[in-house]
Amino acid sequence: MAAASLVHSSLCRPSSFLHQQYHHHRFRTFALSIPFPSSGSPASLFSSLSSGSPQKKSRWAPVAAVLEVGGVKINAIYEYFDANYSGKFVKFDNLSPIVSTKENFDDVLVPADHVSRSYNDTYYVNANTVLRCHTSAHQVELLRQGHNQFLVTGDVYRRDSIDATHYPVFHQMEGVRVFSPDEWQASGLDATSYAAMDLKKSLEGLACHLFGDVEMRWVDTYFPFTNPSFELEIYFQEKWMEVLGCGVTEQEILKRSDRMDNVAWAFGLGLERLAMVLFEIPDIRLFWSTDERFTSQFSEGQLGAKFKPFSKFPPCYKDVSFWISDSFTENNLCEVVRGIAGDLVEEVQLIDNFTNKKGMTSHCYRIAYRSTERSLTDEEINQLQWNVREAMQSKLNVVLR
Ligand code: PHE
Repeated sequence: MAAASLVHSSLCRPSSFLHQQYHHHRFRTFALSIPFPSSGSPASLFSSLSSGSPQKKSRWAPVAAVLEVGGVKINAIYEYFDANYSGKFVKFDNLSPIVSTKENFDDVLVPADHVSRSYNDTYYVNANTVLRCHTSAHQVELLRQGHNQFLVTGDVYRRDSIDATHYPVFHQMEGVRVFSPDEWQASGLDATSYAAMDLKKSLEGLACHLFGDVEMRWVDTYFPFTNPSFELEIYFQEKWMEVLGCGVTEQEILKRSDRMDNVAWAFGLGLERLAMVLFEIPDIRLFWSTDERFTSQFSEGQLGAKFKPFSKFPPCYKDVSFWISDSFTENNLCEVVRGIAGDLVEEVQLIDNFTNKKGMTSHCYRIAYRSTERSLTDEEINQLQWNVREAMQSKLNVVLR
């Protein structure tokens, strides 16, 4: 995966959490507090947006039925591909998010020492099984089944920092297109250039179809499974935001799928980020909100609907300083904070960092607590912060200062 990973953020509704304990050799035991569909069918955070009364809808309804953000369809993406490729893209949206490490990593050539394989980045169910961290986990299986054009939509899971564009669960759409020799031979281009050209043309067309005129740029990047590899970034809220990664599929992947003579492209699109741009939604946590002031805005929206900001409840900041141990990572800290505060944590930010003469390193983190739905009381925040401090000590092997 590229250095910048696609969309995430903090937590949601307690009733849908599976608190799962796991162990591994490098870190202590953590409670995973991520929303997790027990049925094995993908969760859709879009379901709550498509209904005026989210409670009535199944939170874990398959993505297929509810691929709507604001009444507009992420289906707009399907429409685009159907229109431009005469309905040839086959759609999958109910593949299980629980996959083997082989599918998630090996099959798509992720090197053995790649950081994405670490327990710090990916949610492991056991040593050989993970919650997929990308929809690319299904590429090889579907290529082997003989599909030449397909779209895979689903929930993906990553351990990460906490801020407005990151959440530990988000949705991706993977697209793959395989070409046969006659397609590029006629063009006079070599196979790779042909695929890269077609890929960029397709995705620029898609971006235009969805966004009209937004500022965007291509950035060269690295993915283990594509070469060349690119990211498409969109200028949003005064920053460049990555909305998709893509590239020309590594020949080795095609070889393993018995497609030696073909060339292919693939992309992976972050659906929440795309919706953030489309609807000018400033914070990824809002996708999980049941606040009427949010959900009502999108009950019958069109592609042109824009988020109308409503007054935010005040944030409350708490700092925590501590001596770190060698095994300390920011992702683990965020996991602990999320485990306690769930969606009430808006951001976890390193604000001070120094090493003393004895070689001990101190970090100070500022935690921003804020609800999108109500005012938090001092008492409640103090209790949360107290619990966070306790959990940090018991789970992170750090010494509070
Ligand atoms: N799997 C990549 C990610 O999640 C995106 C991607 C998909 C890149 C397909 C290239 C090809 O970041």
